[in-house]
Amino acid sequence: MNDKSLILKRPDLRRYLVPINTAATQQLFTDCLIIGGGVAGLRAAIEAAAGGCEIVLVCKKTLEDSNTWNAQGGIASVLGSDDSFASHIEDTLATGCGLCNHDTVERVVKDGPGLVKELLDWGAEFDKTKDGSISITFEGGHSHARIAHALGDNTGKAIAQALLNKVRKFDNITLVENYYTIDLITNDDGACLGVIGQTHKGTLEIIWAKTTILATGGAGRLYRETTNPEVATADGLAIAVRAGAVLRDMEFMQFHPTTLYIAGASRALITETLRGEGAILRDINHYAFMAEYDKDAELAPRDVVSRAILTQMLKTDATHVFLDIRHLDKNYFARRFPLISELVTSFDIDVSKDLIPVRPSAHYMVGGVRTDGLTKTNIANLLACGEVASTGLHGANRLGSNSLLEGLVFGRIAGRAAVQQCGRTNGAAGLRKFRYDVPQSDRSRLDTADVLNSLRSLMWRNVGITRSAKPLAEAQEIISFWQRYVLDKVFDSPQGWECQNMLTVCLMMAKAAEARTESRGTHFRSDFPQIDDTKFKTHIEFA
Ligand code: FUM
Repeated sequence: MNDKSLILKRPDLRRYLVPINTAATQQLFTDCLIIGGGVAGLRAAIEAAAGGCEIVLVCKKTLEDSNTWNAQGGIASVLGSDDSFASHIEDTLATGCGLCNHDTVERVVKDGPGLVKELLDWGAEFDKTKDGSISITFEGGHSHARIAHALGDNTGKAIAQALLNKVRKFDNITLVENYYTIDLITNDDGACLGVIGQTHKGTLEIIWAKTTILATGGAGRLYRETTNPEVATADGLAIAVRAGAVLRDMEFMQFHPTTLYIAGASRALITETLRGEGAILRDINHYAFMAEYDKDAELAPRDVVSRAILTQMLKTDATHVFLDIRHLDKNYFARRFPLISELVTSFDIDVSKDLIPVRPSAHYMVGGVRTDGLTKTNIANLLACGEVASTGLHGANRLGSNSLLEGLVFGRIAGRAAVQQCGRTNGAAGLRKFRYDVPQSDRSRLDTADVLNSLRSLMWRNVGITRSAKPLAEAQEIISFWQRYVLDKVFDSPQGWECQNMLTVCLMMAKAAEARTESRGTHFRSDFPQIDDTKFKTHIEFA
């Protein structure tokens, strides 16, 4: 890979979304502030607390509102006797299409089995085989069975619950739900000193911290069609960029091939492990088309399967394709995939006779805040881990089920780094008297819900699975126009701040997608359908 990234100009943004006056704002002090209650945030909290730090962990809604909690398929790790680290590394690198950081991949893969074992010890109910070993299955891009799952297709919940039980054993961790982080606070040297946020009571609060760990998760809600929960609105990316963080790989949004597509149903994920267990994709004429597109058919990497589905939908003039699992024993299906079983049954789908309507949707933000191997960002005292971070593990595309593992590995590293900073004096002292003024604005005629609906549709149409120059330019023009009358406003509730954050991040994504005039990983340009290693075997960064 070319070490020199392609640099795009970072957006010119107002530094803080709200006026700040420390003299009139309630304040809290801690060693380590963790923003986000998914796998990375929880694992970081455990490590930092074990090292003696005082932790405050805030999350936007409840601890159940995260991509981690909703994860179905599982966690990838070398657990099978015929598998090897070399093979997991090779599969991760191949899926990442030349943009992975080799050291990061090696670190994550090699730490995997130990971290899965640790989860088991902490009570995660991984499904087991008859001989008592952890049951593993396949997903696209994996050359061996290595996806461990728990409670059937409820893996994320099982892992999050085990981590939460562990977290609750520490009396130096304070969990705060329904806390909306508005901005990171930085000093004149650019170092992070904590955050300003809004509590569940609607009051502004500043939390000063020696170390802040950003673990805010994903961005699927930037798209009309997504597997992600409502909280995944890219806030972490926006607050990081306002504070001066370098964001990279923003053009790489991973689309999951199979999301339930029924009018009235939420766009629920239909886990890829179903295809790992033999599910077939059929078009509306019931033709099994995947072998036409890739030698690995249903188990090709996600970008390949998503594009194949889209192409087949166009060919057949249909809004969806089908997933066929009629070969699976009905009782086994209900046991192995209880979430999906309950979901489809509620729509009168009998999987032993009927096909499941599916189509792709936005699933995972591959890019994010640039971090090094120790989770450090370019901002002093600010660490990042989990989906919000760009660690170099995924390159241009994420291998399925590598992200829970990444969250564990880098959550633990971030927690350790926080411990090292615990003993140091708090740089926040100099800023405890601080004022930032923004002129009040008139937002009385602004319907942010309407802006967001339009934005999400625009992203789906113009910055979606297949991109090209004209729609990307159009998207930038429209988003810039919306930004002109939304970003200058001062809001006092999350809906307005989310709208500002989403507009900020969407424009960066469209710009990065325009700049990468090739196709690589999750990023497919119909006007530049080939990979171009001469120009683009490198990252695109906003710096
Ligand atoms: O298909 C799935 O269960 C998704 C897994 C993942 O995104 O890692």
